[in-house]
Amino acid sequence: MGHIKRDQHDIYHFISARGRLVGAAKGKSILITGGGKGVGKAIAVQFALAGATNITITGRDQRALGRAKSGIEAESPHCMVTTVEADVTSEDSVSSIFAGLAPGPPPDVLVNNAGVNGDFRIIDSDPQQWWYDWEVNVKGTYLCTRAYLQLLLGKPGTILNVSTSIADSVLPSMSSYATSKMAVNRFTECVQLEHGAQGVRCIAFHPGGIASTGMGQRCPAQFRGRLIDTPELAAGTALYLSTPEAGYLDGRFVFSNWDFQEVEKLKDLIVSDNLLVSRVNYGSFLSTEMMG
Ligand SMILES: NC(=O)c1ccc[n+]([C@@H]2O[C@H](COP(=O)([O-])OP(=O)(O)OC[C@H]3O[C@@H](n4cnc5c(N)ncnc54)[C@H](OP(=O)(O)O)[C@@H]3O)[C@@H](O)[C@H]2O)c1
Repeated sequence: MGHIKRDQHDIYHFISARGRLVGAAKGKSILITGGGKGVGKAIAVQFALAGATNITITGRDQRALGRAKSGIEAESPHCMVTTVEADVTSEDSVSSIFAGLAPGPPPDVLVNNAGVNGDFRIIDSDPQQWWYDWEVNVKGTYLCTRAYLQLLLGKPGTILNVSTSIADSVLPSMSSYATSKMAVNRFTECVQLEHGAQGVRCIAFHPGGIASTGMGQRCPAQFRGRLIDTPELAAGTALYLSTPEAGYLDGRFVFSNWDFQEVEKLKDLIVSDNLLVSRVNYGSFLSTEMMG
């Protein structure tokens, strides 16, 4: 069996709305938090190219949202883009996103993309700044997911959580970010467990290392050389993950940098061995079984 490397750095035919996934989001409605810039905007552009007819993008920066709306509607005139100014850390603000949705069925896809990353060693950190990563990345994802699940009324839906490779790493100065995104990955598993039977699909993904976004530009110096991916790679990945053929990845955490045409060949193994979920490695000598 081949070894799948992290060697995809830009969008490719298999996951692209301009390639194999032409029309993959035809007639769909999509809700993207932090959709006015960076990765979120690229995801909105890609879903519009794939035929989505309604895209709601949210964020705190109304000007960025307006620019994204104009750009997407100019490139994809079949798509209506709605902007909602909202802070995902606020319960009231998140309620306003969902209350403001156009009448009709709930969005087909929710993308929890809004995210921040602190860069401080634990000993030097300001508690409010440290905790803010959890406010945006965990509470924001939780509040939006909860509101979306309530809107679904027991029906199917798709939730894509933008995570990071750092969720599965131990790196200096990244404790607030790494722990918050690790929680997002476990939260993804929880959503899948609680709502999979009704047809809800929930997947977390690393979007790649992207220098051009706000986060990429603010990134700690130690990582800058590794940011060699395009936002379109993340966007194509989101589109692919939203399709039913990616159902074998439900409840799991994946890297955009993998070639999903190759990953699909491992589909049976991924499901039978329950791969791509967060687990402590106890080795083969230590048991966690409760003794009677
Ligand atoms: N760039 C990378 O290399 C990289 C790598 C791994 C993971 N990621 C993940 O990718 C996602 C997008 O980041 P990015 O790289 O595109 O950086 P970015 O350009 O800074 O985008 C962050 C987005 O989050 C939104 N946001 C932040 N705080 C918010 C809040 N309190 N309420 C509502 N929206 C908020 C921002 O919108 P407003 O400013 O309008 O509020 C913005 O749209 C994040 O989840 C990040 O963790 C990025």
